[in-house]
Amino acid sequence: NPKYTDYKVVVLGEGRVGKTSLILRYVRQIFAENQQATIQASFLTKKLTLGNSRVQLAIWDTAGQERFHALGPIYYRDADAALLVYDITDRDSFNRVKNWVKELRKFVQKEIVVVIAANKQDLARNQQIPDEESQEYAKSIKAGHFKTSAKAGKGVEHMFLHISRQLLAQ
Ligand code: GTP
Repeated sequence: NPKYTDYKVVVLGEGRVGKTSLILRYVRQIFAENQQATIQASFLTKKLTLGNSRVQLAIWDTAGQERFHALGPIYYRDADAALLVYDITDRDSFNRVKNWVKELRKFVQKEIVVVIAANKQDLARNQQIPDEESQEYAKSIKAGHFKTSAKAGKGVEHMFLHISRQLLAQ
């Protein structure tokens, strides 16, 4: 049996930004318009091969809504990467990325791979946050920046590939 290296990826962001949808798009190639709010943390796994390396990602989803959000050391324990998601049509969801970074730093002491997903690109005509602004912010926290649409299936595979490559390179 081939050997896979395991990595844990935590997905963070406000309620409704599309965390669950990005994970389901990537792992199961599906999308639901009526995706229900996440109440409990859980994970899905995805295996991929990069050259001679085999990687298994455990991608952890969680509730973005404050009333369901009670994360702590358990959720973040042994995280190797963090995916911070915001909705490009929702200014507030972008502003709150900073809070998620704070929480991440509080619970994860080591340097990990961090990536920002500017999600819902299919709604670009209602975009509230200029690309330059979010890209600049990503740079300031040494994070990758990816434009995604879980709905259209755009940029999602590419983003997780980047995360996997970064994990292997570290
Ligand atoms: P919580 O579980 O509350 O934290 O939400 P979440 O961040 O997991 O968002 P979820 O994946 O549940 O998606 C919220 C809503 O946005 C759903 O109605 C999805 O169908 C929709 N959605 C997610 N991604 C996209 C996208 O890329 N484009 C569009 N147009 N809608 C999306």
